Parts: sequence; C-alpha cells; structure tokens
Amino acid sequence: MRRVFLDAGPIVHFGNVTRVNEHTLHNTSESIHESGMGLIVDDDTIIQISESDDLKNEYGSTTEEYEVISLGGSAIIPGLIDSHTHLLWEGDRSFEVSMKRKGLTYQQIAESGGGIAYTVNQTRQASSNQIYLTGRNRLKLSLKNGTTHLEAKSGYGLTTDTECRLLEVMNDLNKESELPSIDLTWMGAHAIPKNHNLKTYVEEILSEQLPAILDQGYARNADVFCEPGWFDLESTEDILISASKGGLSKRLHIDEFEDGDGGRLASDLQVVTADHAHHTSEVNRITMNDNNVNAGFLPGTPFSQGEKEYPPFQQYIGQNWKWTIATDFNPNCQTLSLPFIGSLLVQRNQIHPLAALAACTVHAAEISPHPSGKSHGTIEKGGLANFNILKNEHWESWCLTPGHSPIAGTVLEGKMIIH
Ligand code: NIG
Ligand code: FE
Repeated sequence: MRRVFLDAGPIVHFGNVTRVNEHTLHNTSESIHESGMGLIVDDDTIIQISESDDLKNEYGSTTEEYEVISLGGSAIIPGLIDSHTHLLWEGDRSFEVSMKRKGLTYQQIAESGGGIAYTVNQTRQASSNQIYLTGRNRLKLSLKNGTTHLEAKSGYGLTTDTECRLLEVMNDLNKESELPSIDLTWMGAHAIPKNHNLKTYVEEILSEQLPAILDQGYARNADVFCEPGWFDLESTEDILISASKGGLSKRLHIDEFEDGDGGRLASDLQVVTADHAHHTSEVNRITMNDNNVNAGFLPGTPFSQGEKEYPPFQQYIGQNWKWTIATDFNPNCQTLSLPFIGSLLVQRNQIHPLAALAACTVHAAEISPHPSGKSHGTIEKGGLANFNILKNEHWESWCLTPGHSPIAGTVLEGKMIIH
C-alpha cells in the first residue's frame, strides 16, 4: 500500500548527517527540512520527499491505490533506536529503594540479596509464555514512546538452558510485525550465579553456554558486564574473543561505577560499543574513539541511582567523538522512554536537542543496523519508513515532556500506528 503524507511541520531527517558536532549544530538546515514538505511511503520504504503542495496536486485525496494523510503541521522525527536494553526479566525490586535510602551502593545491595541475582531467581521461575507476554507489553510501551527498533540482551538466566530460553522468547517477539524490531544480544556474562565462582562460571560459559548460544543461532551480539567485582578484564577478554570467533559482534558494559580500565580493553578488542562508560578516563576515551569504539551513554542509570554527575556529553560533541544514548531498561532503571532520556540530556545537562536526538537515531543506527539492511534513524529517500509524528509543530518538543510521550503516531515499517 502506498501512503502520501502531506502538510508536515519541520522534518528532522539527518539525511546528510552522520555525526552531530559543532558544525551540524550551527547549520541545522542540513538536518531539518522546514515546514510544508510531505513524503510518500511505498510498502516499508520512503520513496519520495517533496513540497507538500506538489504532492497535493499530484495525489489529491485517497483512492484505492493510495491513502492520503494530512499531518496538520506536526513535526516529524526519525523512529527512535534504543541501542541498549535488558528487555526480558520478571519480578520487582522496589524493596531496594529503602536500601538505597539507607545509603547502600549498587554493589552492597547485590551482596545483600538484591540486584541481578534476585531478578535471575524470579526470571528462572517464570514460564516462557509469561516472559513473552511481559516482553510484548514492554515493546508496546517502547513503541508508544517512539522506539521503532531496539537492542535487547539476555542475562537474567545465567544457565545454558535459561539463557537460550530468553533468546528464544526474544526471537519469537521479533516475529511480531506490529512491534519494534529487535537486535538480539547474548549476555550470559551478566553476573556470577550463586553456585559458581568467577573461574568456574567462565569455564562453563566457554565450554557449554556459548557453544549452545552459537548453535541456537538467534543472537547477533555478545555483551559482558566488565566491572570490578563482576567480570574482570581477563575473563571479559576470553569470553568476547570466543564469542567473536563464533561470529558474534562485540559489545561491553564498562566503567559503570568506577574506572576499571574497561575503555582500554574495549579499544584493544575494538568492540562496536562500550556502554555506560561513565567513569572512563580521558585517555581511554581518546583511545576508544581512535579505535572506532562507540561510547554508549545510559543516563537513566545515574538518574535511578541518584548520582549527581552525568557523562561528558558536551565533550563528545565538541571533539566530534562517536556516542549514543539508550535507556538501559532493567529492573534498576525502569524506563523505556528515549524522550525521557533525551530530557535528561537537554533539560538536566543543557545539551542541544538535535544532538540528543541524533544520539538515539542516526548515531544509534550505526551500532544497531536494521535487519532489512535499509537505513533507519534517518528520514530519507530509499530508507526504511520508520518515523514519528509529534503532538505539535515544534521538533524540540520530542524531549521536553518527561513522564509523558510527545509522540502522536508512529509509522513503523510503513504501517501507521496512532497512539
Ligand atoms: O546495565 N550493570 C549491569 N546491568 C544492568 C543492571 C542490571 C540490574 O541491576 O538488574 C545495567 O545497569
Ligand atoms: Fe545495561
């Protein structure tokens, strides 16, 4: 089915832009079409972007062959890409709030029966069907907030069977065409399960869990929680090298709570993206960028932890370094809203709203490409028809309503979804 969208407000398209930097922010006309444009979508692809009046003359109103939709001047932004989520888990860790109020750190909470191990226990007890239904609801929520594609990690099973099961549920969810598409990541190295120590668990991962995951064939990426107290540099390296030999693309969680030199390892291994990177040293940041390693910032986590400091977003813009933002949705940081994450950058950290938007669209597409092979995170001719229609004519409003979605409707692979 062909759809003709008329009378758009400003369209943030990022068509000629690969990285938002000082130049891009001073020349916004390279990234944004002024009001009065329209576009044509054929099946799942954008085939034309032109003056709305010209399209009106050519197409008039809806026929059997095409549908004409007026956008009434609303602004349009690309479909948002959430390049880091822990989508599937069961249970609830609300009890941790009182522990946090007593001053316990994330590590101390984990040692006192909370944290990842608690969620692993709850997740193992749930049926696949329950996990599927929970995941489906979360994907719907994500879509309501403008996400059209997301990366999702396993990591709350921590046995061969339960890790495979989480990836199987993700793979089933990925078949539902009315939901965001999923980039599947195996993260068996998320924590050390109770019956193991670091050495025995890494051995089990290398000899049994990873081979099973590769055999299953659903995961595209591998990730490890590389952090002092969790997986050290040496075991992280062993796991990622084996995963990479098996054909998985490399990702890391690094330096979330302290600088554990994760940035150096990420550079040595040339991982696609090293996420959190909150406490990474300046010298490692430079090396990461030299090695084409993306810094995947997850500001929802310091927000949930009540931290005062946020990562150095402005430095990344100034230096023209590679970076993204994502939700990190997990039991400790329960947001699936990229507009909220954008608000943390823009309203809390004075970052330009165009830079924040690029970080979860065109930049994120580089580290989480769409399975169709078409471009996404942009609005351009020949690209995938994944875009959001905002509730008003101001494109900046995409991240200025924390707690409420600014999205009126989403075009997902060509299909129009009104929220
Ligand atoms: O990225 N830090 C490791 N994993 C998650 C948190 C997981 C959890 O607390 O359940 C993160 O923040
Ligand atoms: Fe994470």
